[in-house]
Amino acid sequence: MFVTFEGLDGSGKTTQIHLLAEHLRRAGWTVLTSREPGGTRIGNGIRQLLLDVAHTEMRARAEALLFNAARAQLVEEVIRPALAVGTVVLCDRFADSTLAYQGFGHQQDIAELERLIAYATGGLRPDLTVYLDLPPEEGIGRNRGATGSEWNRLDAQELSFYQRVEAGYRHLIAQEPRRWVVIDAGRPRVDVQRAVVRAVQGRLSALIDRAN
Ligand code: TYD
Repeated sequence: MFVTFEGLDGSGKTTQIHLLAEHLRRAGWTVLTSREPGGTRIGNGIRQLLLDVAHTEMRARAEALLFNAARAQLVEEVIRPALAVGTVVLCDRFADSTLAYQGFGHQQDIAELERLIAYATGGLRPDLTVYLDLPPEEGIGRNRGATGSEWNRLDAQELSFYQRVEAGYRHLIAQEPRRWVVIDAGRPRVDVQRAVVRAVQGRLSALIDRAN
């Protein structure tokens, strides 16, 4: 099963993925976690290019292609082989981030991005996507207040940008409500964790039932 996590910067995805992975492993599942951009040697090289604060000249199309080049490598090298042997794959961001950030945030053409994503992923889509829901004002505050977190080129955006990204996510969720689970990320961490575990376990059980 392929589960992706989406949300604005600072919504707590990384922590929640880590907690969920531990929980599922204790329950006997083989779990692989990854993140975008990154997750492979090639992808981590691309991540450096994307985040470098010196790269102020990066154009929107180049940025979209780089995110998707990293994604193509991750899908072929890591995700598909893991899914093929029954591993539960948890990924911190996936194609929906391109639609929300490049499409809605940077206002690139959605239909073109969808074609680019289809090429990069070879049509692989998540079975379930967890949206950690946090108002843009709070997410930005959390990120900028965090000690030791790296400030990078992609963080340098106005509040209005994150508001467009959030509206984009709402649009994507409304288009495919069965794929998404929306979880209020403003609650205490344990409550968020409980909701995430319940959602993912429910979907895993349904998959097993269907297979039997
Ligand atoms: P990262 O440091 O991984 O932070 P986060 O915890 O928010 O995931 O930075 C990833 C940044 O890249 C984040 O601002 C979202 C952005 N992004 C895109 O714009 N498009 C994409 O396709 C992906 C995967 C990420």
